[in-house]
Amino acid sequence: MNFDEIIKNRRSARAFTEKDVSEEQVKKILDSGIKAPSARNRQPWKFYILNEEQKTHIMNMLFEWDKLNPKEKTSVKGTAQQIKTANKMIMIYSDNYSSKSKNKNYKKPDYISLGCAIENMSLQAIDLGLGSCILCDTLYIEDEINEYLGIKNFEQICGFIIGTPIYNYPPKIKKNLKELLLN
Ligand SMILES: Cc1cc2nc3c(=O)[nH]c(=O)nc-3n(C[C@H](O)[C@H](O)[C@H](O)COP(=O)(O)O)c2cc1C
Repeated sequence: MNFDEIIKNRRSARAFTEKDVSEEQVKKILDSGIKAPSARNRQPWKFYILNEEQKTHIMNMLFEWDKLNPKEKTSVKGTAQQIKTANKMIMIYSDNYSSKSKNKNYKKPDYISLGCAIENMSLQAIDLGLGSCILCDTLYIEDEINEYLGIKNFEQICGFIIGTPIYNYPPKIKKNLKELLLN
């Protein structure tokens, strides 16, 4: 696939076939993630590759949270449903970099770096004929997930699911560049 096709075909995949995503494919996706640019080359990313049992447990925790919080009107239930059919799931963390700087924005560059890595991962998945979806809804149960996985010193950024999409999702409507230009 050429670059334009990869950009055009990247869609958040919502449901997946039962086809296995191999360990090599997961490794290739992560290898592309960690080649991303990062502020001061800090490479703040950390990854936890979930096994099937852990993936299912986190999915159930999300379903449970949704049941207990019906008034919140979130997309948590939909996210849990997506996890159900996903073949692999990775939790993405930021390292615990802290700064003595008084600049209140000192963490922002790391978040941008993480976004760069995650987008590389999404695009690599497309090139492998796979699909993926970034899941920030895991943050509703951030503490519970971290406790379950025994993660203490890292900041949870999102979940990332991978699989073979059940069909080719059509391109989503995006804003026109004209409305986005500030000058
Ligand atoms: C930071 C971020 C967090 C997201 N979190 C979720 C999520 O928790 N659940 C979900 O179903 N989709 C999530 N998405 C996917 C978005 O819904 C999706 O990117 C958006 O609707 C645009 O669709 P597209 O990616 O197919 O172009 C997230 C995307 C981003 C970039």
